[in-house]
Amino acid sequence: MKDGREIILGVCGGISAYKSCDLLRRMQELGFLITVVPTRASLNFVGIATWEALSGREVPEDLWNNVHQVPHIALAKRSSAIVIAPATADFIAKIAAGLAEDLLSNIVLAASVPIVLVPAMHTEMWFNPATVANIQTLKSRGLIVVEPDSGRLTGEDVGVGRYPETSKIITALSTALGTKSDLLGKRVLVSAGGTREAIDPIRYIGNHSSGKQGYALAYAAAARGADVTLVAANTNLPDIEGVSTIHVTTALQMQEQLEALFGATDILIMAAAVADVRPAHPNSFKLDKVKLESLELVSNPDITSTLTERKGKQIVIGFAAQASEEYESGIAKASAKLRAKNLDLIYFNDVSAGAIFGSENTQGIILSDNGVATEFPEGTKLTLANKLLDFALDKLG
Ligand code: CTP
Repeated sequence: MKDGREIILGVCGGISAYKSCDLLRRMQELGFLITVVPTRASLNFVGIATWEALSGREVPEDLWNNVHQVPHIALAKRSSAIVIAPATADFIAKIAAGLAEDLLSNIVLAASVPIVLVPAMHTEMWFNPATVANIQTLKSRGLIVVEPDSGRLTGEDVGVGRYPETSKIITALSTALGTKSDLLGKRVLVSAGGTREAIDPIRYIGNHSSGKQGYALAYAAAARGADVTLVAANTNLPDIEGVSTIHVTTALQMQEQLEALFGATDILIMAAAVADVRPAHPNSFKLDKVKLESLELVSNPDITSTLTERKGKQIVIGFAAQASEEYESGIAKASAKLRAKNLDLIYFNDVSAGAIFGSENTQGIILSDNGVATEFPEGTKLTLANKLLDFALDKLG
């Protein structure tokens, strides 16, 4: 089934092949599922073990393995797009000529999905009339070419031909996948991660939130044209190109940032896990452990409620992560939260057994203020993000 997530990352034999390790990670963080198909020559630069470890998948590199499964056709059919990075002059020539002599070139020839080509090579090779003509041919056939950057190349050389910034490749991929622009002109504010409340300089009260859901929301909103601000608490994820990210630590810091931005916001999505309490008097030096037993705690403000008190046109979406609940009572609690916090929508998921925190996937129920419950069967956090944004947009009218 194609759902816009399955991507083939073809890697050719250029020195910049190692940069595709970062590209792969960045694509995974956005919810893409990636099968790496390296050419034989590329294995001189990055080996199969690296690709398998990073992608978490088997790496098919030989056309003659598993022949009965017709791997080039199966892979071409399964994917939603192919990214070839780096693409060498040799590989570009090969596919421009329609040759198919290894697994990757066979996949390219068999594919009917968008192909994003990321050439990287020495300046002389890039400007060679043969390469120029081949690129022209491939562009005329609809391949998307991400132009190489200018700068330091292998050895002492400097010029055009450098592997471009990862964000440029991801933007080209999003465009190739035909991402909608229905949030153009809308301001979206997202909170992500988990707040940490200092006990002393060493310890804190916190939670397991990875921030992945909030980042998926920010990415999805930005990809659909929104002006996005992400208030991120203690996340360990790379900033998203085009999203203004404010890093905070505590609930009070998060509240301050959100309050300043809420007035001008169209859609607020509270994906952050806010610590319920904080130590009343954080210690400036390491607290004696016996004193931990009698730590004085105070409640953190309910950030969402303080914001929705002054709610105007904004659509506000909350999250309710319940653990070890009876399913029905979990839903009842989530809808009570929806009303108490004056939300338009709440996403309820069961986080018992640690199945959601840190995972790429999620599963739950979307509850609307009009009482409608929509099941979200297991899918990526990016898919859920787009679904929630669809709801929000619908409500905004
Ligand atoms: N939330 C908030 N401020 C808090 C706690 C939670 O804004 N101090 C937001 C969260 O970002 C989330 C929603 O409220 O969108 C529900 O979070 P949850 O922790 O489930 O709610 P609590 O009100 O803390 O309820 P519980 O008693 O179950 O902990």
